[in-house]
Amino acid sequence: MQHVNRDNPIPLYVQIKDFWKKKIENGELQPGDQLPGEQDLCEQHGVSRITVKQAINALASEGLVIRHQGRGTFVASRRFQQDLLKLTSFTEDMSQRGLIAGARLLSKQIILATPELAKNLGVLEGEKLICIERVRLADNEPLALEIVYFPYDLCPGLLAEDLQSQSIYNLLEQKYGLILHVAEQFLEPSLATRREALLLQISIGDPVLLIERITCLKEGRRVEYAKSVYRGDKYRFRVLLERPTPNTSK
Ligand code: GLP
Repeated sequence: MQHVNRDNPIPLYVQIKDFWKKKIENGELQPGDQLPGEQDLCEQHGVSRITVKQAINALASEGLVIRHQGRGTFVASRRFQQDLLKLTSFTEDMSQRGLIAGARLLSKQIILATPELAKNLGVLEGEKLICIERVRLADNEPLALEIVYFPYDLCPGLLAEDLQSQSIYNLLEQKYGLILHVAEQFLEPSLATRREALLLQISIGDPVLLIERITCLKEGRRVEYAKSVYRGDKYRFRVLLERPTPNTSK
């Protein structure tokens, strides 16, 4: 049995992920059902273990499956999927809190990908990137300092847009037809540097929250790498956690 097409430009792991995702979404696989083991998946799809691992990681990061160390991979409960955090923009986050989002543009430019940026965006070193730095405002008060990078070829006209009053996610979706799908996000506490303190109107050394986000398109390509510094006194991050039910952990 082979469900991958090597002539298709869609990466093999994405094809495998989509194959299992379909089975979960159409109910062929139910919450708590176990997926075949890695070795079986390699044989079934005729791919390497690395590709299978990537596909399972992608299913897990979409909340479709849960991995239990030493026991295997199981279809997640539907409620778990509903409870997953939504991939929202700053503008949407603020409007959910009843605040008006805004931005003060600090810089916008085209740069060439450094090794670190190339790795984070899955592009080649030296590739053209769009880089935008903004202070994000909530009801006109500075809340976060945000620097975002996008591959230039995905949204070449972005720098010509009004980036102070428009939502970038909205532009990417409406103007460039990009379907933002999932993001991996890291949160880390830190202390404000001199520059951050100045821009966020806080004191040097005040607590801040560093957030890093890598956003992917539906077909798996990385579209955004963002680094934000949020004021620790104004921002709270809400995460819903669900204890695995006996059904999903058997
Ligand atoms: C959040 C994310 C950023 C993203 C931004 C887009 O702040 N952390 O990664 O770039 O939203 O916000 P907007 O669409 O309001 O410009």
